[in-house]
Amino acid sequence: MIKVDHLSKSFGKIKAVDHISFEVKEQENLILLGTSGSGKTTTLKMINRLIEPTGGKVFINGENILDQSPEVLRRGIGYVLQNNGLFPHYTVAANIAIVPQLLKWDKKRIEHRVSELLEKLHLDKTYLNVYPNELSGGQQQRVGLARALVADPPVLLMDEPFGALDNITRSKIHAEFKALDELKRKTIIMVTHDVQEAFELGDRICLMHKGKIIQNGTPTELLFRPANSFVKDFLKEQRLQLEFKAIRLNDIAPLPPEGGAFDLHGERVDAGVALWSVLEQFKFTKAEGLSIINHQNKKIGSISFEELMAAFYQYKKHQPHE
Ligand SMILES: Nc1ncnc2c1ncn2[C@@H]1O[C@H](COP(=O)(O)OP(=O)(O)O)[C@@H](O)[C@H]1O
Ligand SMILES: [Mg+2]
Repeated sequence: MIKVDHLSKSFGKIKAVDHISFEVKEQENLILLGTSGSGKTTTLKMINRLIEPTGGKVFINGENILDQSPEVLRRGIGYVLQNNGLFPHYTVAANIAIVPQLLKWDKKRIEHRVSELLEKLHLDKTYLNVYPNELSGGQQQRVGLARALVADPPVLLMDEPFGALDNITRSKIHAEFKALDELKRKTIIMVTHDVQEAFELGDRICLMHKGKIIQNGTPTELLFRPANSFVKDFLKEQRLQLEFKAIRLNDIAPLPPEGGAFDLHGERVDAGVALWSVLEQFKFTKAEGLSIINHQNKKIGSISFEELMAAFYQYKKHQPHE
């Protein structure tokens, strides 16, 4: 859906972005990961034409973005700015309604969409008439997300959207982020310097350094098939946590061929979720393990916590870089 082809940007002598290429599939969540100054924001801003490249091309749905006016292009791209970028002199409602007003939606439709989003993002409707600085950081971030989502653009660009939040708020918002239906339908490019966040939210990760992409791969590829020692060192800290976030339940515990589902104390557990989330769910139940149930909701098997951990270490043993 998005194709970035040898894209470059120089500011004088600084090569902020240096011949990078990558593709993002429809509904994929791609993370640009890297330390400060690696060229992430510049890359993102070239995709919605807030910055014009020095070289290279960007295609969205096969169309060169230079063939559209920036205004038309940006209608299809939601943008969540670093530090949320809300207008301090606009109320929450007015901030969210900026794009619909440009699109000349009628008042009823705007009101309906704004209140729908507030509900989805767990913001109380009493916040409609308050100003951003009366809200907490987490709430401001939600308003920023609502503003980007309001006209339901197929593409979402997010620049360090959770960067300013404390850890507790951040993991809460991560969980909501993964659960939000509207986001599952979107093609997302998200920028972060936080490795844990990248592994939690990304389908693929582009690790950037000095304007170049050092490796583009899935979280497990980066962990177990690092392109070089830079990648390896980048992921060194809290590696075990990263492994729990990268390895999915169905990587280590296959369901029976005739089908079925995982169940933890009456709650369905999606086979594609990260082991990390399964462990989080264990914390809140007294279950000894996961049940496997068939289509008639009958228990046909189980996997204990210990078995799950053993399968995890077994999986790791078979990876090239273990
Ligand atoms: N408008 C600009 N003028 C000059 N240099 C810039 C400008 N924007 C970014 N840079 C430089 O380009 C490099 C990449 O910046 P940026 O894309 O913001 O990195 P990141 O988002 O990864 O922190 C940095 O060295 C930064 O100082
Ligand atoms: Mg940046």
